[in-house]
Amino acid sequence: MHHPTLLSLALGLAPLVDARPPHHNIHAVAGTGTVKCPIVFDGRVPSATVATDFDSYGTSKFNAEYVKGKELKWSDIIKFPETANARFDADGTHKAFEVTISDKSIFQTQNGFRRAGLQFQGDPNTGSPGSTGQKTIHFSLKWDAARALNLSHEYLLVWHEASDYSANQFNFEAGAILGQSSLARDTYKVLDRQNKQIWSTPIDKTAWQNFAITLDFSKNTLQVYYSKGDEPLKSVTSAISNNNAGAGQYQIGILKKPTGTSDVVNSGFQSRNLNEGLIYGSLFLEDSASSCVSL
Ligand SMILES: *[C@@H]1O[C@H](CO)[C@@H](O)[C@H](O)[C@H]1NC(C)=O
Repeated sequence: MHHPTLLSLALGLAPLVDARPPHHNIHAVAGTGTVKCPIVFDGRVPSATVATDFDSYGTSKFNAEYVKGKELKWSDIIKFPETANARFDADGTHKAFEVTISDKSIFQTQNGFRRAGLQFQGDPNTGSPGSTGQKTIHFSLKWDAARALNLSHEYLLVWHEASDYSANQFNFEAGAILGQSSLARDTYKVLDRQNKQIWSTPIDKTAWQNFAITLDFSKNTLQVYYSKGDEPLKSVTSAISNNNAGAGQYQIGILKKPTGTSDVVNSGFQSRNLNEGLIYGSLFLEDSASSCVSL
């Protein structure tokens, strides 16, 4: 819609100026996907939600206190951009939300990172139903040009961290992966427990991109599903062998690593006056017993 039409080119007309916000087409087709498996954690945000609902356990679907800068409340972090719903966000029922990071996004004393990560209520670090059997984490992402990520950095966007914090069973990332300069920056990518890329796709800066990752905690495998816009998800990898042991928790949000350091947690370079964000939708964990996956 931001390109001149053939007709306007043929007539020598200047393209019309689009007065709507540049990157959120509120009239696009809404999500039409149907969840067909039992939901374990529902992170789909009701359409009446206000940002302050994220600040207390009674009104948030997520942990109200973690994982964020101590000076910030979740209501400082969460925005509700005008955008069409993602694939599994029902029109009039759910809405997308944006996670943002700023200079204040320093968790505890982790001065190297800028981070704001949501954890599902009911997903404790040990004994979580999210870390047993077969489970599929669903999420959709949309780029916000007004708060663009800086792809010269490495970003974790969705991950599952083992309960002893020694490893992540998988990382869904974007940007320049530290120590792996052969990987393209402008992609979303799934890394296994060894931080080896198992799949990637170019970042689309206008469309919703829909992802699902099935973790089989019994067979120790990962399988990735993907689609764009409102298309049904398709399997894009086989069930790849991966060590899913160690329980832990899902985290959904942004962890931006610094550059120029070997101690990424505590030091390194981060740009000042940071104003970055990413739009999330269709967020839920489903029970994939008997290989059930909503597409
Ligand atoms: C992006 O990150 C690089 C590496 O830290 C930095 O040099 C550059 O200034 C950043 N760009 C913006 C727009 O912040």
